[in-house]
Amino acid sequence: MEKKVLLKEEDMPKFWYNILPDLPTPLSPPLNPETKKPLTADDLEIFPKAIIEQEMSNQREIPIPEKVREIYSLWRPTPLVRALNLERALDTPAKIYFKNESVSPAGSHKPNTAVAQAYYNKMESVKTLTTETGAGQWGSALALVGSLLGIDVRVYMVKVSYEQKPFRKSMIHLWGAEIYPSPSNRTETGRKILKDNPDNPGSLGLAISEAIEDAITHENTKYALGSVLNMFYCIRL
Ligand SMILES: Cc1ncc(COP(=O)(O)O)c(C=O)c1O
Repeated sequence: MEKKVLLKEEDMPKFWYNILPDLPTPLSPPLNPETKKPLTADDLEIFPKAIIEQEMSNQREIPIPEKVREIYSLWRPTPLVRALNLERALDTPAKIYFKNESVSPAGSHKPNTAVAQAYYNKMESVKTLTTETGAGQWGSALALVGSLLGIDVRVYMVKVSYEQKPFRKSMIHLWGAEIYPSPSNRTETGRKILKDNPDNPGSLGLAISEAIEDAITHENTKYALGSVLNMFYCIRL
């Protein structure tokens, strides 16, 4: 019985699939939180132009740059694995498969978008990327690709998680990135929260706010987001 499906290296995808043109009805546009109007390219200037274009794109297939494919090939194609124990536990005749993304150096699927985001920033001469992390998967993924592509990375990690998961912090340091518990004293947002409650455990939303504030207050620095917008799903597949 075949338990794993392994693609050949030459079968690795050359395009990202963008699901938007195939949706039966278009998604509602994301709104600017201040104006409540649909986001425009200007609202997204914390990202490089190539990523904003991808966010707005209705193109079904988006070519994967050669450099990105070269980095992917360090661990991809990732195996499709039959979840036999789960099938037995469920006592189902169905065959269940999962894509084992744990074989990436950071141990999750998150480098798939991190490589692409860091690459497009590098192409636009961005020196530093800031981001948030919760459990630490996303922060370590971006730190990994920062080290591969020569781009500095600064991570704000939800404080309670920063204290509970020292090994993610070590991985991030190992790949040469900076990491701070959020709320931190590095931003207005963080200082305000700490003034009201020095023991605030932090949250993903707060870490996002700190990372964005850091990006807009520093030269040649952009922000990388761990999910949410269309392009990340397009990029990850
Ligand atoms: C926007 C955003 N940033 C960061 C994260 C947290 O990632 P992690 O728990 O891997 O640190 C998530 C969750 O996946 C997210 O949606």
